[in-house]
Amino acid sequence: MFKSIRVGSGPIKGAPLISGFFTDSLPSSSGKGKSKSGTPGFKGELGETFVHPNGDVALGLGARNELKLESLRTAGARLIKRLDRLAVTGANLAIMDDKASKSIGAEEGAIALAEGMALANWRVDFFTGKATNVKPAHPPLTLGSSESRVREGLNAGLARAESVNYARRIAATPPNICNPQWMIGEAKRLAKSTGLKLKVIDFAQAKKLGMGGLVNVGLGSVSKPCLLILEHKPARVSPKARGTTLALVGKTITYDTGGYSLKISNGMKGMKYDKCGGMAVLGAMHHIATSKLPLHVYGILPCAENMVSDISYRPDDIITMYNGISVEVTNTDAEGRLVLADALTYADKDLEATHIVELSTLTGGIVTALGHFCAGVFCNHDKLLGRVEDAADSSGDKVWQMPLWKEHREFMRTTHADILNSNPSRNAHPIQGAAFLDFFVDEKKPWAHLDIAAMGNVEKDTDCFVTGPTGYGVRLLIDLAEGMAG
Ligand code: BES
Ligand code: ZN
Ligand code: ZN
Repeated sequence: MFKSIRVGSGPIKGAPLISGFFTDSLPSSSGKGKSKSGTPGFKGELGETFVHPNGDVALGLGARNELKLESLRTAGARLIKRLDRLAVTGANLAIMDDKASKSIGAEEGAIALAEGMALANWRVDFFTGKATNVKPAHPPLTLGSSESRVREGLNAGLARAESVNYARRIAATPPNICNPQWMIGEAKRLAKSTGLKLKVIDFAQAKKLGMGGLVNVGLGSVSKPCLLILEHKPARVSPKARGTTLALVGKTITYDTGGYSLKISNGMKGMKYDKCGGMAVLGAMHHIATSKLPLHVYGILPCAENMVSDISYRPDDIITMYNGISVEVTNTDAEGRLVLADALTYADKDLEATHIVELSTLTGGIVTALGHFCAGVFCNHDKLLGRVEDAADSSGDKVWQMPLWKEHREFMRTTHADILNSNPSRNAHPIQGAAFLDFFVDEKKPWAHLDIAAMGNVEKDTDCFVTGPTGYGVRLLIDLAEGMAG
């Protein structure tokens, strides 16, 4: 791992040259081309590397007609691991030119490559103690290129990854440190360093406002719940973005024990990642603010810790939500929708957002349905859905559409209150979650719910990610917001 990655102002003197090759355009091994020694055994497979005796590196990009942004991220991830072993301090990138691919330009390619490099150059080393065997980081790595567009692309990719890695760092912060009150401090630090505005609705105010969902879910913890509202209000809004206010809402359960509907056996371990929806929003707000995006955006984090105590809420409680809907709690483990409901009402009615996109690690059912490949997306508005799908395609944060119909809403009704938080029939949990949330946004307002329960963290190392948080959703939200800004 390198301490950091940065981009120089031109080619780096004396640093190795990294050249990209497709399986169908291999460097000549007979001594022609750039390298005198050839590349015996090198096939150009995606992410494959070959180090010449002079230190230059050949990087495989796979088949030319199969090149995608995601393959460049993978290639970047594998490249940085090779450079790490070589312990270089600089590298000149000549990976691909504009003619290399019909669909991907050199700058766009450089963004993806740098993204992959910086995502793979991240680890959790902030809790190392006296017995650590974590290797110290190498000095910073400087990337060079003779082309300014490539350098710009690299810088843009590094900036995107920095926002993702910021989200990952907070996501990795354990629940004995990161609780709702700690989140207030973290939001303050973010606001101060980026110029975002921050409003905190604390426990007392939430009670006064009648935010029954947020208040009851967070009641049992000594670290009381809060609603964090970050605002990016640029001096200049793009013509296309006039009249648009985008609200990004993220489930921030700093720990989910299940409450009295306690999680059993192995179900609880890893529930520090139940805040990953909120982390996606934090990371995206970081980027939106630092890149001065000409679009009005709110980031809203309902923060609570779902605990067991003598004052915790229980199954059978009937609570009244911020928008006046009464909810019978059938399961205290379906807590995410309760805190999100109040946050959605706040975005819809108080902030008057024109578009709402909400991310949450809401149900284990979405993992069963879709596996760890993508998030499930529920949306009431075709144009917004299209935007979310486009952002998923460009960012690599994949989504798949799930249904949300009137029948699903009716499924959530109950006799002693307006609705229940989880139907005891146990069918279609992910859809139930979405249907519940649909009661808290005006039916005419475009809104989307992304169930990211399968995507917040990985349980083993992948090309771009070490075991732990992925920052899923940060890049999707950045691309979505950039698309809306025009
Ligand atoms: N935080 C969980 C969902 C979850 C499960 C996230 C696995 C990540 C991995 C959520 O609050 C929850 O417990 N959901 C219940 C819903 C049910 C009680 C309606 C679930 O999925 O079982
Ligand atoms: Zn739960
Ligand atoms: Zn949860």
